[in-house]
Amino acid sequence: MTQDEMKKQAAWAALEFIPHNTIVGVGTGSTVNHFIDALASIKQHIKGAVSSSVQSTAKLEALGIPVFDLNNIDSFSVYIDGADEINPLKHMVKGGGAALTREKIVAAVAERFICIVDSSKQVATLGQFPLPVEVVPMALAYVQRQLNKLGGKAILRKNVITDNGNVILDVHGLQITDPLALEFTINNIVGVVSNGIFAHRAANTVLIGTATGTTIIN
Ligand code: 5RP
Repeated sequence: MTQDEMKKQAAWAALEFIPHNTIVGVGTGSTVNHFIDALASIKQHIKGAVSSSVQSTAKLEALGIPVFDLNNIDSFSVYIDGADEINPLKHMVKGGGAALTREKIVAAVAERFICIVDSSKQVATLGQFPLPVEVVPMALAYVQRQLNKLGGKAILRKNVITDNGNVILDVHGLQITDPLALEFTINNIVGVVSNGIFAHRAANTVLIGTATGTTIIN
């Protein structure tokens, strides 16, 4: 089974967790693209979606799923998104698709975060995947120096502007042994919009696509 087939398997398994007549939080990425295809197959049973990116909004709307403004919703039950890495505590590194800030916002409003991944995303310690940090452009050089002081090497992601008009620094070489502390430390650097550690808002449930089926971790 290919990695993409495992992503697809986890994505379709997420349908089991979607209540009827609800608004669904939708993340961003190739795994979520499979989920949006799956969601379209039950679109008559849901009210619609809130989206974490321009890319996901376009796909949702193309498939006839109404997209709601998050500011008009007090809460919703389930957020479905992928991850670049996930540890045994369900802390994640996200942002490979540069959508981390909106993903964090939508996840914050959701009652439950269901993470859909293929088995290659499971790690013991976060940090092998370069940590994405969204930065206000005028603060780029300052933030880069501060991130390098934390022990990593922050490299500007070329030719990428986020949906919020910002840039991404990818921090290589971090051993993220305390994700809760590092998430706060990086957020406190002036000029950082958000960082890709999702530890304070960890996943509640993980669906892992494997060669032998989908594993559910609660
Ligand atoms: C986008 C993300 C994605 O969830 C993450 O990059 C995983 O992507 P994929 O499903 O394509 O492997 O955080 O900002």
